[in-house]
Amino acid sequence: MVEHTDVFEEDIFQEWHKLIKLYEFAIDEVYTKLKILTEELKVFYNEVPVEHIKTRVKEPRSIIRKLTRLGVEPTPENAMIHLNDIAGIRIVCSYTSDIYKIFEMLKEQNDLKLIKYKDYVESPKEGGYQSLHMIVTIPVFLSDGPVDVKVEIQIRTIAMDFWASLEHKLKYKNYDKAPKHIKDELLECAHIINDLDSRMLRIKYEIDNYHGEDE
Ligand code: GTP
Ligand code: MG
Repeated sequence: MVEHTDVFEEDIFQEWHKLIKLYEFAIDEVYTKLKILTEELKVFYNEVPVEHIKTRVKEPRSIIRKLTRLGVEPTPENAMIHLNDIAGIRIVCSYTSDIYKIFEMLKEQNDLKLIKYKDYVESPKEGGYQSLHMIVTIPVFLSDGPVDVKVEIQIRTIAMDFWASLEHKLKYKNYDKAPKHIKDELLECAHIINDLDSRMLRIKYEIDNYHGEDE
């Protein structure tokens, strides 16, 4: 015989499962869009601005932890209202200029609604972090109608991704309590990364404008 509590737990499990699925669908929609745009640029314009794309959906336990931290009852409904980063897409580009190219292309998509964006490329974070963040909504067409679902998109260069990925790993090792000279050194690494990006972009422009004249 099935206990009442089992039925109750099964319902809760189903609700969270539905929520996660909804965000997976939203990622599929945005990912398909990006695939079409990048394929079009490659085939018709011989441009490859995107190196790779990573996606992830936050796990229910992280969602519950974050909602509890925000002082909100941890339910799937509240997750949809209060969290912007349940679905995440990271677009890793070749050059800094590609970040803005992708950004502009996404803004042109009229089924995507831009909720907010933060340009940490133009204005890096205090610790040196660089990336362009967008929060968008995309309609997901379910059997009982469309639902607007929020997706966090991070756009950065390979160099910015290299720095952010390693710094993120260090954060898990009690980095917040790290002495100042370590933070300073990470910031210096961010400056080097930034300089590298500028130099690579300059080289790209020079090659683009080189018409094969002899020295
Ligand atoms: P949350 O931190 O997600 O609650 O949101 P927020 O609104 O403060 O957004 P913010 O734009 O500051 O950061 C969102 C995401 O960007 C984070 O979850 C990280 O993936 C990334 N991020 C932001 N700052 C840093 C940073 O200093 N280092 C690294 N490695 N990643 C960062
Ligand atoms: Mg986050």
